[in-house]
Amino acid sequence: MAAPRGEFTSRFGFLMAASGSAVGLGNIWGFPTNAASNGGAAFLFVYLILAFALAYPALMAELIIGRYARANAVTALRSISPGDKSKIAALVVGFTGIITVTFILSFYAIVSGWMIAYFFDPLARLLGYGGVAQWLTTDAILRDAAFVVLFMAVTVFIISAGVQEGIEKWASRLMPSLIIILILLILYVLTLPGAMDGLKAYLVPDFSSIADPTLLVDAMGQAFFSLSLGVGTMLVYGSYISKQENLPTTGGLVALLDISIAVLAGLLILPAMYVALANGVEIFDSQGGLIAGPGLIISVLPALFNTMGVIGIFVALGFFLLMTIASLTSSISMLEVPVAYAVEHHGLQRSKAAAIIGSIVTLISLTIVFNFDPMFDIVVTYTTEMSQPLLGFAFCIFVAWIWRRNDILKEIKQGAPEAEQGLFWKIWPFYVKFVCPVAILIVYFQ
Ligand code: TRP
Repeated sequence: MAAPRGEFTSRFGFLMAASGSAVGLGNIWGFPTNAASNGGAAFLFVYLILAFALAYPALMAELIIGRYARANAVTALRSISPGDKSKIAALVVGFTGIITVTFILSFYAIVSGWMIAYFFDPLARLLGYGGVAQWLTTDAILRDAAFVVLFMAVTVFIISAGVQEGIEKWASRLMPSLIIILILLILYVLTLPGAMDGLKAYLVPDFSSIADPTLLVDAMGQAFFSLSLGVGTMLVYGSYISKQENLPTTGGLVALLDISIAVLAGLLILPAMYVALANGVEIFDSQGGLIAGPGLIISVLPALFNTMGVIGIFVALGFFLLMTIASLTSSISMLEVPVAYAVEHHGLQRSKAAAIIGSIVTLISLTIVFNFDPMFDIVVTYTTEMSQPLLGFAFCIFVAWIWRRNDILKEIKQGAPEAEQGLFWKIWPFYVKFVCPVAILIVYFQ
């Protein structure tokens, strides 16, 4: 028999955990640079529509399956599948999700490790350890390996403690801190020369780029990655929500928090880049676009902080603490997917499952660290661009075409008895049945 399942103690606890999963590197460095290179507010506008019209319905699909089945992804998908064939499909989709999220975590941990290293850099400088600071910010296999191991150890530590004592407790501490740090950094950066040019680049729409198909593809990929969809993360978190909770409202709040923090992050990153420009730091790449990805976070921004003198040390500390928190509340949600399966399906003790699976992920991460080119890009592409959208598609199919409609309604009505007459039930079933799968496929084949 498996151990008794955990449950979030309050709506606040769930909201912090789920928005903690959603808010991650994707929001703070993916979204702002995507927006800047795709017509500023035009991207924002398309993103908002896609996030609410497509990603929110897909998020609801996972939350509802999870809470109905109160089980890990594989068992949950099997329990909503009536026939033998659909049960096999459930097994395949559930497992592919588990494997995909394991590989997503393995590259995510490398990038998160950089965030910790860059957090220690200003500390080392503050304490006068120039040599250590140099080591922390110099790209090297040994440094990457050390911080992957450290980051994964913290992730395993939180997950071993369980749903309430680990995930909920840490997310409830870390997420409010994240929001406060983010707002303080925005307020400070907006006072600096050059910041207004960044605001303009972000908020003045260039509607000519709306016609560009890459904008749609980027916005949709961003929305799915950002809401942690397709791999069972939200399904597993949904399985820990109380039956008294109103799912459509709670899910809506998670989407709202995720989107708001992405939009807020844009108010930090773009002004910061233009402040860097005003301070003589190069922010455009050879094609004339804004520097994005790792180049932005671990070269442009540190260069900016270095031009700010002593204050820069504290800004750097705050910024990389923000990134570390964002990474950690996301990584725990990824590790929970295989761990929940191992605990419930194989009867493993939670701490043992977390340690074993955490070690496997660390080994994969280290393999990538030692063969960074080309492995890193291959893993990112296979997981986020190929596997994740297809799995998102499969989840919609399971909910809308395989699961019995009455069961879905019954599940939603627990905690929301009036739901049958509400707007959600009028629109959502149609969305997951037709709009989401078709839209995902169109974007996929772009
Ligand atoms: N959503 C997180 C971010 O924006 C990352 C994340 C957590 C994720 N769990 C996931 C992405 C599952 C894909 C699948 O950074």
